[in-house]
Amino acid sequence: MNKITIAIDGFSSTGKSTIAKELAKKLAYSYVDSGAMYRAVALYAIQHKLIDDNVLNTEKLIESLTHIKVAFQYNNSLKASEIYLNDVNVNTEIRSMIVSNAVSIVASVPEVRKQLVALQQQMGAKKGIVMDGRDIGTVVFPNAELKLFVTADPLVRAKRRFIELQATQPSITMEEVAENLSHRDLMDSTRTHSPLKQAEDAMVLDNTNLDRAQQFELAMQWAMERIN
Ligand code: CDP
Repeated sequence: MNKITIAIDGFSSTGKSTIAKELAKKLAYSYVDSGAMYRAVALYAIQHKLIDDNVLNTEKLIESLTHIKVAFQYNNSLKASEIYLNDVNVNTEIRSMIVSNAVSIVASVPEVRKQLVALQQQMGAKKGIVMDGRDIGTVVFPNAELKLFVTADPLVRAKRRFIELQATQPSITMEEVAENLSHRDLMDSTRTHSPLKQAEDAMVLDNTNLDRAQQFELAMQWAMERIN
């Protein structure tokens, strides 16, 4: 069967990764969470005290880029890929609120983006990939056969993410989550370099009132139209 590239972009907590994973599973494609890569670099910046009170030492981070190795490794028992920062599994750590609050600052640095985009393009060189993020349809894979732009009502998104995070971070509050999402959405869509924006040829998927099965059906239908 003809293999395509599927690029999924959109605001935080719109369920991009859920759609992406389901499509990848059904099509036997690989799935890459590009946000996890930016989160891993943000974690490195935190660990090395390159970010303090939302102020990033950009110059030091750029100098450090040659020492930052971000890679995915498949975990057979989880049946999913996990992210490694310099050979250490950081899959859980990158979801912490500390990382969520730092990631958009780190992701606005062009040199960071250049390094990660090159890696992402390598991963997708043979097609048969579903990647989600903010600039996948616009910058990473501008020729992707299917581009989705996922949106949902901000309150619905904050509730979804709050429930998801409560499992691992019981002290988290709804206000904290909502504030982080709106702050990141603003930073991601207004940054100078590769801002989050809808690609001209993207299909818009608003899942405010769609359940998982309904949104999957729609996305799968669009994918099959392109594959055939
Ligand atoms: O929390 P959520 O799943 O919505 O976000 P994520 O996909 O984990 O991405 C975390 C952050 O990384 C975003 O808020 C962006 O600042 C940045 N990012 C980016 O700039 N470009 C991408 N392709 C993916 C993520």
